[in-house]
Amino acid sequence: MSLFPPSLLPPSTLPDDLVLRPLHTEDLQLGHLDVLSVLSPTPALSPAQYTAIVQSMLARPDTYYPLVVFSPSSNKILACATLIVERKFLRGGGLVGHIEDVAVSQLAQGKGLGKVLVVALARLAESLGCYKCILDCSQDNIPFYEKCGFYQKEYEMVQYFGAAKKSQPTPSATSTAAAPEPSKPANL
Ligand code: ACO
Repeated sequence: MSLFPPSLLPPSTLPDDLVLRPLHTEDLQLGHLDVLSVLSPTPALSPAQYTAIVQSMLARPDTYYPLVVFSPSSNKILACATLIVERKFLRGGGLVGHIEDVAVSQLAQGKGLGKVLVVALARLAESLGCYKCILDCSQDNIPFYEKCGFYQKEYEMVQYFGAAKKSQPTPSATSTAAAPEPSKPANL
């Protein structure tokens, strides 16, 4: 079962042997979590746990749009990324697209799959009525996102909680960073 209707997607620009499609409820068996592990720790999930996550996304309609590149010949997911659509009070209840968790399996990197996913999700955000699409990334990945049509704006701030708090740098590590320029008035 697809997490969103495939008809929402723009035409695929992938080679004929690859498929651009919404995540399926069965993609746990096709290596979805292996792909994500190139990005961040991705502990194994049982089929029941995976299904519970999928169900929680399906319970929030018009919000989660997880997209994958599937290789029928290897029966594997090669790459994935998700669009999350946020409803705002500002801009008359405008919509903002957030691109999250872009990951391409190690052996498939550098073949254009990441760009296909990000460009497709940005087009999807536009077609769903979002007035902008944003994402956070490392400095190293800025050139990649520029090639996908994005440009750099603002800074990312983060606060970790619970066990994840150990990912947070110590204050001494952050205080040596160059002070950013004063904020400009927000234009959201
Ligand atoms: N620096 C400069 N250029 C780059 C970089 C980079 N780090 N990465 C890709 N590019 C360029 C490519 O050369 C290519 O240029 P071209 O169109 O002129 O030929 C273009 O960007 C598209 O590259 P792809 O082949 O589509 O990149 P790929 O499929 O390898 O995907 C990605 C890039 C997603 C960064 C992948 O390498 C990856 O999964 N990395 C590990 C996980 C990661 O960092 N994910 C991004 C997290 S940020 C987020 O999720 C919002």
